[in-house]
Amino acid sequence: MKFKRPSRRTTVTLFVVAVVSLLLDIAFGAFRVVRTDGGEEWQSVDTVALPAPSRDGDVPVETSIANRRSRREYGTEPLSRGDLGQLLWAAQGVTRRGSGYRAAPSAGALYPLKLYVVVGTPGVEELEPGIYRYRPRRHELAMGEAGDVQQELRRASLDQEFVAEAAVDLVVCAVDARTTAKYGQRGRQRYVPMEAGHVGQNVCLQAESLGLATVTVGAFNDDRVRKAVGAPADQRPLYVVPVGTRA
Ligand SMILES: Cc1cc2nc3c(=O)[nH]c(=O)nc-3n(C[C@H](O)[C@H](O)[C@H](O)COP(=O)(O)O)c2cc1C
Repeated sequence: MKFKRPSRRTTVTLFVVAVVSLLLDIAFGAFRVVRTDGGEEWQSVDTVALPAPSRDGDVPVETSIANRRSRREYGTEPLSRGDLGQLLWAAQGVTRRGSGYRAAPSAGALYPLKLYVVVGTPGVEELEPGIYRYRPRRHELAMGEAGDVQQELRRASLDQEFVAEAAVDLVVCAVDARTTAKYGQRGRQRYVPMEAGHVGQNVCLQAESLGLATVTVGAFNDDRVRKAVGAPADQRPLYVVPVGTRA
């Protein structure tokens, strides 16, 4: 069969169709890749650098899965800053530079989750007790209010005592609007909570491989947890994850 060269008019038409469909895709988010840590808030505060995370550990993932247990008793030793950084990286760290893809999957790569760190006692080496927020892109902490926030978080978590006994509590909050803008209510009801589950499991397995103790907590008063960590009204707390050394 002989190949017939397309007419100039056909070539121009195809080009215009390609450009218009590309513009429509961009307008409706098909190519959207979020490159920021997603929040305007906490932009101009003091920050704390975290040590670069390790990408290869000594414990095979199968061993971490086999040994993972909910642990609600914690030791009196503080966490190292490196261990905290490793846990946060496993939860929401950027694992591919450029695209901004993270350790846990996210519907449409929209990354609606925010990670707060409530540092208590024994806390983390060289970190004041208080509230911090993880900035995935820079792998650093933004400092919020200093002080004892763990007791309020414990009360907000239906008085589960181990929440205040852990070295730190990671609090996963969601900006639902990021995901509903593209996926509607299915985004809020399914995708965002599914993403929090991925984060929780990553933290559990990372804690196990570091020899730390953790448990995922879903029983809490949403509004009180949100206020305890100083999250804005458009954020919904989904998980509280206490972590500490082993008792
Ligand atoms: C969504 C969810 C919410 C949970 N909430 C709590 C909680 O509020 N308090 C608690 O002590 N454990 C909580 N857990 C932990 C479970 O009690 C625990 O996973 C279960 O007993 C099984 O034990 P294992 O994790 O050691 O396998 C929760 C677990 C999940 C998945």
